[in-house]
Amino acid sequence: MEEMDDFTVGRGPWEDGERDEEVPEDITGAAGFESAVDPSEDEEGDEPTLRPRTLEEFIGQEALKENLWVFVEAAKRRGEPLDHMLLAGPPGLGKTSLCRILAAEMGVDISITSGPSLERAGDMAAILTQLEEGDFLFIDEIHRLNRQIEEVLYPAMEDFAMDIVLGQGPSARTIRMDVPRFTLVGATTRTGLMTKPLLDRFGFNARLDYYAPEDLKKIVVRNAGILKVRITEAGAQQLAMRSRGTPRIANRLLKRVRDYAEVMGDGTIDDETAAAALLMQGVDDLGLDRIDRDYLALVIEKFGGGPVGVGTISVALGEARDTVEDVYEPYLLQSGLIQRTSRGRVATRRAYDHLGIPMVD
Ligand SMILES: Nc1ncnc2c1ncn2[C@@H]1O[C@H](COP(=O)(O)OP(=O)(O)OP(=O)(O)O)[C@@H](O)[C@H]1O
Ligand SMILES: [Mg+2]
Repeated sequence: MEEMDDFTVGRGPWEDGERDEEVPEDITGAAGFESAVDPSEDEEGDEPTLRPRTLEEFIGQEALKENLWVFVEAAKRRGEPLDHMLLAGPPGLGKTSLCRILAAEMGVDISITSGPSLERAGDMAAILTQLEEGDFLFIDEIHRLNRQIEEVLYPAMEDFAMDIVLGQGPSARTIRMDVPRFTLVGATTRTGLMTKPLLDRFGFNARLDYYAPEDLKKIVVRNAGILKVRITEAGAQQLAMRSRGTPRIANRLLKRVRDYAEVMGDGTIDDETAAAALLMQGVDDLGLDRIDRDYLALVIEKFGGGPVGVGTISVALGEARDTVEDVYEPYLLQSGLIQRTSRGRVATRRAYDHLGIPMVD
């Protein structure tokens, strides 16, 4: 398949430029909790997985779940593969989890790859030809696919076919090859960086939003149960409020707070142990950590509150611009701590108040 590189085209436009005193009550029933989950597939290896396995275990995102349920049921009844689907939203909100859940519901296998790891058209062709009818192809960070790969995907998504160039020069000819009817599941933190032709080829566009504290609280309580940690209502509430609307962060904080409760207390996570442990981790009452506060302090103290370009901010923080835009800024924007203007980022009154810096107009 070497020849396929013949139709190399320059990389896409997205490559450059803009781009209490009461006895606290354990609410998990953790004692003797029997977990049905398989510990073998955990992200961190040595502990039971906290990843939800079914739509029922997937907490929150109710409207989206209902849509997905209808989408899956309809495909199953017709005995057809699921239409291509895009999962968009900030990191750690459950895109990968949802993809696994949907594949399990459909009873199909998943091949997992990611935008930046695919370099040549041949890489994509090799993956496509190995799929079975109905399989999911999960492409993480799909906004980072290069143009070459995208061009292999267009006919594959639309017509389940691939155009392969054989030979070189005047004797070169193109042959069309069938690709099994598969489901492309794309995940992206940046829909805005995707090209229109690719976006248009998805039959379903699922947008994941930050989780409400009530939902995060349910996630924390469920996972405390899986980890066999005792947690009080108020302890769970603390963790939920400080997890930036993000289940992955809730899980991470839960584990750190558990460590603290085991070493410094009797192992129960209550309001006080949670607050003390989070303080030790540098996580404040809005869930911001050191780098978030550095971001805000920088904009306010060095740039008079803005506007200041994201490129300048990234350099000053020593972080990749993508990380600043994909990971830090969405939550600062969502919390109303910064605003995006045509001339750059601006710190809001809330940011000044949060850092305890007087705002001079
Ligand atoms: N709705 C949910 N209910 C319970 N737990 C969840 C939910 N969503 C995510 N999680 C937890 O958060 C973790 C991170 O989720 P996941 O890996 O699916 O996020 P992601 O959106 O793919 O993130 P990334 O963009 O960084 O790849 C999961 O392992 C799971 O434990
Ligand atoms: Mg993921």
